[in-house]
Amino acid sequence: GAPLKALAARDHLLLGTAVNMDALAEDSTYRKITAREFNSVTAENVMKWETLQPERGVYDFTQGDALVKFARSNGQAVRGHTLLWHNQLPGWLTSGVADGSISKDELRQILREHITTVAKHYKGKLYQWDVVNEVFEEDGSYRQSLWYQQLGPSYIADAFRWARQADPHAKLYVNDYNVEGVNAKSTAYYNLIKELRAQGVKVDGFGIQGHLSTFYGFPGDIPANLQRFADIGVESSFTEVDVRGVMPMDETKLARQAEYFGRMLDACLDQKKCTSFTIWGFADQYSWVPGVFEGEGSANIYDENYAVKPSYWAVREEL
Ligand code: XIL
Repeated sequence: GAPLKALAARDHLLLGTAVNMDALAEDSTYRKITAREFNSVTAENVMKWETLQPERGVYDFTQGDALVKFARSNGQAVRGHTLLWHNQLPGWLTSGVADGSISKDELRQILREHITTVAKHYKGKLYQWDVVNEVFEEDGSYRQSLWYQQLGPSYIADAFRWARQADPHAKLYVNDYNVEGVNAKSTAYYNLIKELRAQGVKVDGFGIQGHLSTFYGFPGDIPANLQRFADIGVESSFTEVDVRGVMPMDETKLARQAEYFGRMLDACLDQKKCTSFTIWGFADQYSWVPGVFEGEGSANIYDENYAVKPSYWAVREEL
């Protein structure tokens, strides 16, 4: 049948996948499916700090540019991830902050320079940028990241100002996990966006990672959550969808996984202001899940041998 991206296009939806650049270079089946099925791509890792600025002041855009080039040759849009995070920071930065050789003022300059350099480099090439990633705790308090501890909460407004200046046309996003439904964490984002707006700083979009587990129930109030952001003029996107399970998987778990994929996509399709839906890699053999969640896996829509799973059919049926 038609590829998923053809069905998504009818719905005016950008249907994306995270891309593993090593797999893209080495695995021709992976490359073929990436190009054929999706109309949007996100760099799984190569637009993060440790890749882009491995040494202080030395930028390496090789891999990120390779992804943009791949996307262009396949008519795909590119989603940017991420201008600021507390993970995958280069060693020179974390150790410099830890040993005090990088002062707070310097850190602010480093952040400004990185965001400006990267957003300018990709200006006009990306449709969305995750400007800040995972800045809140589950209870809605600020995450005690290096950024927060050194700079205080104003680093978030600064990051948006700098990103906007460097790339005025990309939609600028906040992004996090466990914010699918209405809860303390998603409410913290809702309030943050309103506060920033009162300061003259515009946030365009709310990014919902969508890392769910078949072990937990489905957050039923996703539509209400998307709607409250839409009501204040903020678009939304599902940015990193996968649904993991405790291994070994069985039919019940695979069916539940399929149901969760379908319901997330359905919520996005039902919301006018939900613009993109990105799966965090499509193939189980490259998934980040087994490396991070002990005993869990099988989170994607294709299995290790590129056979489609019930979750693939669930996505297909929604489109
Ligand atoms: C993950 C990647 O998938 C892994 O390859 C990497 O080792 C760690 O980061 N939330 C995010 C993503 O915003 O950037 C993370 O990606 C998954 C969780």
